[in-house]
Amino acid sequence: MHHVVLFGPPGAGKGTQGDRLAASLGIVHIATGDMLRKAVAEQTELGMKAKACMDAGKFVPDDVVIGMIEESITAPAAANGFLLDGFPRNVAQAESLDAMLHQHGLDLDHVVFLDASEDLIVERLCGRLLCRACGFGFHRHYSPPREAGLCDRCGGELYQRADDNKEVIVQRLHVYQEQTAPLLDYYSHQAAYRRVDADGGVDEVYDRLVLAIQDSD
Ligand code: AP5
Repeated sequence: MHHVVLFGPPGAGKGTQGDRLAASLGIVHIATGDMLRKAVAEQTELGMKAKACMDAGKFVPDDVVIGMIEESITAPAAANGFLLDGFPRNVAQAESLDAMLHQHGLDLDHVVFLDASEDLIVERLCGRLLCRACGFGFHRHYSPPREAGLCDRCGGELYQRADDNKEVIVQRLHVYQEQTAPLLDYYSHQAAYRRVDADGGVDEVYDRLVLAIQDSD
């Protein structure tokens, strides 16, 4: 069984690599950003609360995301393990996760920091395209769709996220430095921790990630 945390700056490739790694390990990929965007699209009460924070590049309140995570990691879908992408995002969330895991007799097996430079992040996020129907991700230059504006997998319409514009990206990077970067101090002394360089092609980074997981097994 694998319990994995994948953290890092916006655009480092957590979603791209998390999808692939979770599928190969046979575990569920739990991405708080995806869950929140679904709630926004469905206009649920939670979605209404989250939208303004997300559009401004700020964090959604801790109690909202912590509640979502507790439900997900104890759900039947997580019985074989889980990969957390986008959670924890600050030290308070990391402490809550530890308390939840302890309560359920679980441990983190792998904590991977996906590290990327600011220039790379801006380039990746400004070019990102997502499928409105299936959520699959593309990049205008690095992994363009075969037909402009349409998803290769399901033919759905491609769109750009509201927070993927330069002004909001700068704000997200600021929030990352202030609130998420301190997680490095929190996790880096733990045996499960590994750093992976996210600069490189998708396959190259994935190979590094797999090695990091094997190394911390
Ligand atoms: P979230 O959706 O988690 O956004 P993020 O952390 O900013 O990360 P991204 O999804 O932007 O990037 P990624 O690292 O997944 O990169 P990706 O693989 O897509 O959160 C959004 C918002 O929700 C937050 O701002 C906040 O408001 C809220 N939220 C979420 N969790 C929260 C929490 N725990 N607490 C409070 N609030 C929370 O890749 C990016 C692009 O690059 C893609 O186009 C991809 O195709 C391309 N790419 C990826 N890897 C490569 C590569 N190796 N080579 C070339 N291109 C690549």
